Amino acid sequence: MADDKKPLQAKAVSNGLPPPNLDLPYPDRPELITENLLKLTNLITDERKKYIFKNLITHIHQFINETSITTDEWMNTIQFLTRTGQICTPIRQEFILLSDVLGISALVDALNNPPVSGGTESSVLGPFFTEDAPDVNNGDSIASEGKGQYMYVEGRVIDTHGKPVPNALIETWETDEYGFYDTQYADRSKPDCRGRLRTDKDGRYGYRAVVPVAYPIPGDGPVGDLLLMLNRHNMRPNHLHMMIEAPGYQKLTTAFYPEGDEWLASDAVFGVKKSLVVTLKDVDNEQEARKRGFPKGSHFKLLEHDLVLVPEAESKAAREQYAREHAVNRSNEIQA
Ligand code: BEZ
Ligand code: FE
Repeated sequence: MADDKKPLQAKAVSNGLPPPNLDLPYPDRPELITENLLKLTNLITDERKKYIFKNLITHIHQFINETSITTDEWMNTIQFLTRTGQICTPIRQEFILLSDVLGISALVDALNNPPVSGGTESSVLGPFFTEDAPDVNNGDSIASEGKGQYMYVEGRVIDTHGKPVPNALIETWETDEYGFYDTQYADRSKPDCRGRLRTDKDGRYGYRAVVPVAYPIPGDGPVGDLLLMLNRHNMRPNHLHMMIEAPGYQKLTTAFYPEGDEWLASDAVFGVKKSLVVTLKDVDNEQEARKRGFPKGSHFKLLEHDLVLVPEAESKAAREQYAREHAVNRSNEIQA
């Protein structure tokens, strides 16, 4: 066939990078695979990325070596990760769930938000925060009528020096009495059991809500299968999420866990910290209920809690100190 009759077919091309100028012996022995790959990380120009990849490769290869993982076991792992990816949508984030149940989300959160004396501790964000919470005023309800047992949440937003923080933005969300977030209802027409409010001039906040209940994290996907395989339950203890922002302060993402819940110590996603376990006061008083705007009855639970923000500079210093102290010899083993 003449050249000009050949079908138009582009030639396969590389990504444009040349063979590296590195001494890379043929990987005839297992350890040479690791060594060559570590040498290749020297091509990474960004020092932080280089450091992270060296660590990642070293630990993953060490894991494979130490466990002598079989071909079948590795294929099963790949298939599990494939299923995890396939079930993901913009609202079904199975990879985040995987990170949650493996304690990685909680660990990353803990390292990035080390405790600062007096500051309210952080907790995992979870997948149920939405951007569309309605603005509510202090004293308003974040839950529509019939969503659960009445609860009133009140306190102040202050800083670690006891100074009130006026006009701080509080986002809050919780389950209804059936253990579902509004986003889990297929017929959701508007947000419910969530709201956005601001502290008053004295840093005070207060809103009506419902007593949240314990609930299972999604169990109908590969992460649910994994938990069953590991003989682990998929429950979170009941909790109320809060996220607080104010200029000059470290943003706080946290949650409060009423005491007494049977799942507190074994939370499926490792979100509970001792300081976040709270007492709900039982109030049975018509006048107190009316004062807080409850439309009927006199009985409600009261969660009184001050939220303590950490100034940005203090938070940064704590993070840096924590990183220094917890770098536990790791950089001695793996040179950056
Ligand atoms: C949550 O608290 O909303 C949550 C956190 C992690 C995984 C699933 C749910
Ligand atoms: Fe939650």
